Amino acid sequence: MFAEDEAELLLPNAETEDALETMLTRREAGVPLEHILGWVDFCGMRIGIATDVFVPRQRTGFLVHQAAKVALPGSVILDLCCGTGALGLVLAQWTGNVELHAVDIDSAAVKCARQNLAGLGGSVYEGDLFKPLPGGLMGRVDVLVANVPYVPTDAIGLMPPEARDHEPRVTLDGGDDGLEVLRRLADGVLRWLAPGGHIFIETDASQAPAAVKILATAGLLARSVYSDEFCSTVIIGANPDPGA
Ligand SMILES: C[S@@+](CC[C@H](N)C(=O)[O-])C[C@H]1O[C@@H](n2cnc3c(N)ncnc32)[C@H](O)[C@@H]1O
Repeated sequence: MFAEDEAELLLPNAETEDALETMLTRREAGVPLEHILGWVDFCGMRIGIATDVFVPRQRTGFLVHQAAKVALPGSVILDLCCGTGALGLVLAQWTGNVELHAVDIDSAAVKCARQNLAGLGGSVYEGDLFKPLPGGLMGRVDVLVANVPYVPTDAIGLMPPEARDHEPRVTLDGGDDGLEVLRRLADGVLRWLAPGGHIFIETDASQAPAAVKILATAGLLARSVYSDEFCSTVIIGANPDPGA
């Protein structure tokens, strides 16, 4: 985005010249525009965001579009590693009348997601992957969306300063090969998916073959899809039990 476009977004948010000056100073220091504005435009919706919470990326819209193909009114949707809760929020708005659950390990993200999902009656839990979820959700999740951290530890230093300096490491770090959180998620996922349920996970294109293998080993029917438009890769896994 050009500086003039950013200034146009900042201007209506600044009540005084001093406030605008402060915003511009923070921006020059590399604070993400979205953290200064307090909102992010994702899939055409304005989502609230707080400092220290991962900024949803436009490429992740591809994951939401893929998940929307199987989500139905009445579906149970789980947004794991939810950050702002943007993925579940958009999916719920597009689908209508869903049961929405979301999890994040970071308390700032949980607070932000709770605010964003309150109007939809979504439940947000704080903790590690499936651990904080109520047992009654086991075997009932129709659509699981998960943008887990997938940057290899050694590559974090190569990211733009906006990300590496202003987004907490827990939001980015996927371990040695970037797939450590995905591996732990895959380990437990089949217990939570409903018969015929699906999981959608974003990865880097280079990680797709390994990620598909991890989901297949966990007992899912797995494949990857790529979008030129979004420049994004999504791994899709399906519970092979078709149900009744
Ligand atoms: C890449 S960000 C994605 C956030 C959001 N889904 C999005 O796309 O905007 C990954 C998120 O996973 C959370 N996270 C990292 N490890 C986690 C874990 N073990 N359990 C739950 N959440 C975790 C981070 O706090 C962060 O909010």
